[in-house]
Amino acid sequence: MQVLQVTGGARLSGEVRVVGAKNSVLKLMAAALLAPGETTIGNLPAISDVSIMHELLARLGCTVGENTDGMIDSVRIDVPDHPLSEAPYELVRRIRGSINLLGPLLTRTGRARVALPGGDAIGSRPLDLHFAGLERMGAEITTSHGYIVAEAGRLTGAQIWLDFPSVGATENILTAAVLAKGTTVIDNAAREPEIVDLCRMLVSMGAQIGGVGSSTLEIEGVESLRPTRHVAVADRIVAGTWAFAAAATRGEVRVRGAEAGHLELVLDKLDRAGARISVHDDGFAVRCDEQPRSFDVVTLPYPGLPTDLQPAAIAMLAVADGTAMITENLFEARFMFCDEIARMGADVRTDGHHAVVRGKPRLSGAPVRATDIRAGVGLVIAGLVAEGVTEVAEVHHIDRGYVRLEEQLRGLGARAVRTESAVFGP
Ligand code: UD1
Repeated sequence: MQVLQVTGGARLSGEVRVVGAKNSVLKLMAAALLAPGETTIGNLPAISDVSIMHELLARLGCTVGENTDGMIDSVRIDVPDHPLSEAPYELVRRIRGSINLLGPLLTRTGRARVALPGGDAIGSRPLDLHFAGLERMGAEITTSHGYIVAEAGRLTGAQIWLDFPSVGATENILTAAVLAKGTTVIDNAAREPEIVDLCRMLVSMGAQIGGVGSSTLEIEGVESLRPTRHVAVADRIVAGTWAFAAAATRGEVRVRGAEAGHLELVLDKLDRAGARISVHDDGFAVRCDEQPRSFDVVTLPYPGLPTDLQPAAIAMLAVADGTAMITENLFEARFMFCDEIARMGADVRTDGHHAVVRGKPRLSGAPVRATDIRAGVGLVIAGLVAEGVTEVAEVHHIDRGYVRLEEQLRGLGARAVRTESAVFGP
């Protein structure tokens, strides 16, 4: 079995570059379906989730290929006049983002048959808000044989109140509403930077959207959209991961290509923990010379602290000075990660959606398993501050969201290799 083997002790030092956000790019690619013709999306991360979205779009009849007109790291998606409408389980189950095909397919073709993605390691992930919103717009949605089957004539605009500002539900309703008849208002909409990015792309395709970046989106449906060229927003989760890794290892890391404004809360916490933060035109730098001080973490929808950074935060707090209380408000099973990091000597206790982390000077290297992308990278950070060698198994999770992580770590002076496991079986 392939593992990421990390030898602890190095202080991360140097520069990394962050590219487009996984959680934006997948939605932008799905939204390309809204217009026939050639849409180009740039600043693409070379991660496995993007390759799976390529395959899904190809199955729907699109021609997906490398772009040749000079836009860096981009993909060209040529959408037919009549795309197919079925997203099969063998691909959907591998990426959660495939649920974002539902809105564009339904509004474009009047029918969508998308496999139910099923549960995953961070907790139950219901789709009731996606369905309720689309049903209000006139869709008929059933689930049978493991598939969501949605049908509609032309959708009609509606007033939709979300019980919770769900990222996925906001995106599916938004991408359906842009081609609906009349006005849709989404109240209590999510306002993550990735949603703003999606709105910007839709507007460049001819959509009419008001309130972009706020929690009330007003969408005036149009008859048709045109293809576009769009550069994806930087990955704030990857950028934030580097910020926590820098502080944990008492290092100095400059993160280029990042948008510091999307991480204000995280950078402020690190500043108060004793790190020095400097913000630049194309990113930020984090420098930490001493053991960081502990702070409490409450995960919330944007602009709160992102749940996707919770494991990286815990890894840093495990070697911080003091005790931290973590409150996880989005995904209850995320604390599975705590059982793994505890194997490395971290003093972490969980109770329901709270965890208490008592910092100590060092962890101790051990074989551990990544249960999802973010848990995986949290364990890698733990490995950097552990004595001896840590093997993180199930590397494929990490590859879903981080581009060749071990190479980037080596570029910052860490000892990290991808290798066959000495501990885990084949
Ligand atoms: C997206 C991100 C994920 C991130 C999450 C929260 C992608 C591919 N994934 O996931 O990395 O952790 O946002 O920032 O972009 N909920 C319901 N009913 C619904 C939908 C959601 O109850 O119909 C609940 C969920 O169980 C969860 C909360 O709402 O507790 C937030 O989920 P949501 O914002 O929808 O996350 P995703 O879009 O699935």
